[in-house]
Amino acid sequence: MAAFAADGNGSDMHTQVGIVGAGPAGLMLSHLLARHGIDSVVLEARDRDYVEARVRAGVLEQGTVDLLDEIGSGERMHREGLVHEGIELRFDRTPHRIDFPALTGGRTIMLYGQQEVVKDLIAARLAAGGDVRFEVSDVRLDKIDSAEPVLSFRHDGRDIDLRCDFIAGCDGFHGVSREAIPRSELTEYHREYPFGWLGILAAVAPSADEVTYTYTDRGFALMSLRSPTLSRLYLQVDPNDDIANWPDRRIWDELHTRLAIDSDWSLTEGPILEKGITAMRSFVVEPMRCGRLFLAGDAAHIVPPTGAKGMNLAIADVAVLADAIAHWYDSGSETGLDEYSATALRRVWRAQHFSWWMTSMLHRFGDDDPYQRQLQLSQLRYTVASPAAAASLAENYVGLLKV
Ligand code: FAD
Ligand code: PHB
Repeated sequence: MAAFAADGNGSDMHTQVGIVGAGPAGLMLSHLLARHGIDSVVLEARDRDYVEARVRAGVLEQGTVDLLDEIGSGERMHREGLVHEGIELRFDRTPHRIDFPALTGGRTIMLYGQQEVVKDLIAARLAAGGDVRFEVSDVRLDKIDSAEPVLSFRHDGRDIDLRCDFIAGCDGFHGVSREAIPRSELTEYHREYPFGWLGILAAVAPSADEVTYTYTDRGFALMSLRSPTLSRLYLQVDPNDDIANWPDRRIWDELHTRLAIDSDWSLTEGPILEKGITAMRSFVVEPMRCGRLFLAGDAAHIVPPTGAKGMNLAIADVAVLADAIAHWYDSGSETGLDEYSATALRRVWRAQHFSWWMTSMLHRFGDDDPYQRQLQLSQLRYTVASPAAAASLAENYVGLLKV
């Protein structure tokens, strides 16, 4: 059910949950709430084409796949997504496989682009009559400490006040929701890394069967894929580098050099469809709640993408939040709401550690430190040689059931 216009002209409206941001967190939350019969309105600053085309993450944990199935949005993912049973670690020009099902009691991952997840969630929400508004501007959060917080925004040339029972801030790292919380209420944790990732999407069959993480003296490289005809590859670069310094020839040359192994294998090139540089950071804000405002996903925490956790964490947050809100409507009990932040943060901190650990093991840090290089190589050798160490990587990668 969509929100209603109390005064007939749409400038004053009410909904149960006002959601800022139509990324994976906001869209999934609107679906989960609808399953409980709870209304929501999703406000998105960008246009629909933009959010559906934004190339980002690609690895879905089993828990994310299960949730997409539960809300009835998994059909295309199962048709077009690729189930993977492991990853490859390359170092010293040698490939090593980490076998997920063998190390985790049968668990796997799904490769399916974040923008495909977003497309499926938007289409299903709109088909069900959900209220998702694109190209809203001037979003402001007021009265978050009251029983009726307000989202003010501009849409289709009108200024609207949306009164809510709850607000979910799902507007990513640069959104406005976190800023609505007084600084004195929050503790922030940061880590910046002296490198970024240059990512490309290329129209070429993947050269490797599995996601391949490579450690070299020249820096990290990652080979991933989106389909039998689409490859996604990344290079560690200076975070302040300009993409204009990376013509396609230079990107392929660097990928060839870093990914090379001693056995018979080669990287196949193809037209580059998209390229960009992303800085890398770790960030957490605690608590993920202030009054009736709840933060979820990148609005509350960021991980470097080396552990493939960002989107999965965003989805895990809103699964906890939807249950807590539904419990409040069912019983009037605040318990779930009170526990939301601590419950979500347990998973967040596990993913923070895993993402930091993978990042630290696989990248060259700015200062050329031979001691650190030996530690990294030792950690890599141990990870592929010891079933216990490999299992630790595998269970974190596929997603821990208990955190
Ligand atoms: P987002 O997807 O950021 O969605 C937030 C939404 O809020 C956006 O649509 C935004 O337009 C909207 N918004 C922002 N401000 C406002 C406002 N004021 N009003 C209304 N709407 C607003 N993770 C991986 O696991 N692997 C990767 O390879 C990977 N690559 C990434 C590359 C980039 C460039 C970025 C930024 C992130 C990447 N991530 C990756 C992380 C992953 O994509 C995020 O963790 C995931 O998108 C989080 O989902 P979210 O819904 O919390 O936030
Ligand atoms: C991707 O396919 O985009 C991808 C895969 C693994 C990562 C990060 C990104 O760790």
